Amino acid sequence: MPQTPPFHFLQPGRKLTDSELANAMRLDIEAELDAINLYTAHLEATDSEEAKAILRYVIAEEQEHAALFTELVHRLDPGQRERNRQGSGKYALVASGATHEQLKASKGPTVGLTVGSGRAVQGRGSSVE
Ligand SMILES: [Fe+2]
Repeated sequence: MPQTPPFHFLQPGRKLTDSELANAMRLDIEAELDAINLYTAHLEATDSEEAKAILRYVIAEEQEHAALFTELVHRLDPGQRERNRQGSGKYALVASGATHEQLKASKGPTVGLTVGSGRAVQGRGSSVE
């Protein structure tokens, strides 16, 4: 698996800043997601129930690792946490069939939106009806 050298910019003895560590953790998240995809492909390519049991267990572990690393990135980079929060709100709008104009008007996460309703009942940034 090709990888970007994560520490090519470090001087000996220097520790990562929070921003650098967040970038390193993003590479670690990518590695976890690659592992999930690889193990899933192997799971789908075998009839061995024993191998499938092992692969299912390891896939679940990798999913948890990805979630832990994602939480760490959010703690190291609060801006990304906020953008993820905004993205979650926007996801609900998109899934509900909001127009491009409604999405552009959305300034933040929408609270109380029911996916598929096409209507935000209470939002911080906009109301979509
Ligand atoms: Fe892992």
